[in-house]
Amino acid sequence: MIVLLLFCFGFNAALAVLAPVVTLNDGNKMPIFALGTGRGTAKETESLEDVKQAVIWAIEAGYRHIDTASIYGDEEQVGQGIAEAIAKGLVTRQEMFVTTKLWSDRHARDQVVPALKESLKRLGLDYVDLYLIHFPSAVDDEGKPLNISYLETWKGMEDAKRQNLTKSIGISNFNAAQVYDFLDDEHGIRPAVNEVEVNPTHAQEVLISHCINLGIAVMGYSPFGYMVSRKSANAPPPRFDDPLITELAAKYKKTPAQIVLNWLYSRDVIPVAKSVNKKRIAENIDIFDFRLNDEEIAAIAKFDKNLRVIDFKDWKGYPYYPFDY
Ligand SMILES: NC(=O)c1ccc[n+]([C@@H]2O[C@H](COP(=O)([O-])OP(=O)(O)OC[C@H]3O[C@@H](n4cnc5c(N)ncnc54)[C@H](OP(=O)(O)O)[C@@H]3O)[C@@H](O)[C@H]2O)c1
Ligand SMILES: *[C@@H]1O[C@H](CO)[C@@H](O)[C@H](O)[C@H]1NC(C)=O
Ligand SMILES: *[C@@H]1O[C@H](CO)[C@@H](O)[C@H](O)[C@H]1NC(C)=O
Repeated sequence: MIVLLLFCFGFNAALAVLAPVVTLNDGNKMPIFALGTGRGTAKETESLEDVKQAVIWAIEAGYRHIDTASIYGDEEQVGQGIAEAIAKGLVTRQEMFVTTKLWSDRHARDQVVPALKESLKRLGLDYVDLYLIHFPSAVDDEGKPLNISYLETWKGMEDAKRQNLTKSIGISNFNAAQVYDFLDDEHGIRPAVNEVEVNPTHAQEVLISHCINLGIAVMGYSPFGYMVSRKSANAPPPRFDDPLITELAAKYKKTPAQIVLNWLYSRDVIPVAKSVNKKRIAENIDIFDFRLNDEEIAAIAKFDKNLRVIDFKDWKGYPYYPFDY
């Protein structure tokens, strides 16, 4: 019995894959693979309870970074999953890295700290590791555009960091010109992260190189782009059975999904991949035993069409809309 238990324990430990860590520009360390919990691709059969279970399976598989947002409506379930994993002794709070995001209806400086406190309450945490401005444009309670500069919102983000409600602060969906705005203020805190869409049809070569050169880490969301549930008959390639992707999968003895995720990792982008399936959760993080070479990176980048799966197109024309250029 004891032998069997030891065997099981060793076997599980061997299966878990811990992602490497990157040191952010503020000195904090971030695991370079995150579980996505956004609901954009959730099937009708998927419930919020599945998010809690996914978080627990992810932690068992070695994930130490969870990505959520107030607008996802699942911070409570994310918090429950983390709490259960801690209670089971799988992990400590200090070992976990939790990212959440400020929604656009709370962009006035004095709304930021209260919004984060509400997120923390839902998460059941007394701090998050990373708090992001989810989108550069501001809206009112009814979703109508407001002309609030994200530099004003940023002052609120700095307040939150100063109050130790978050270890790091960053931005999401900001374009390169907007990223440069944060460098003008000599006394301000530089964003630690910009979380943006990165996948084969939206390679983001220019934005990523700007951010990395400025010491701003890039988290890549929707890494599977049009390869998964949003695909339609006329969606652009690649598919998981694309010859280039399957050839690389054979070469590295990996799955096509792992090749796509590794393409982000090999470009120093931190993948944020969503799954609520136990097997796919474990598959997705198991990408750190190889790196694609420069030619292979470039070959996958040839799929780039500067085409987004997340375009917030209803907000086109709102002040600070980021996707016009
Ligand atoms: N900052 C932002 O504005 C923003 C915007 C969008 C997303 N995000 C974040 O990024 C995360 C990921 O993006 P996403 O949810 O849009 O899409 P995604 O991670 O690219 O794709 C998720 C879809 O892929 C499927 N899938 C996962 N692993 C797979 C595998 N190994 N093989 C085949 N299919 C697989 C999932 O189904 P199963 O669950 O059934 O496995 C789901 O349908 C979000 O959850 C969210 O945390 C942030
Ligand atoms: C938004 O505010 C800025 C600066 O206060 C101003 O220059 C700009 O014209 C305003 N835009 C709109 C659409 O009101
Ligand atoms: C935040 O944490 C730092 C480091 O532990 C501490 O020195 C500081 O007093 C804390 N600030 C607040 C407002 O709690």
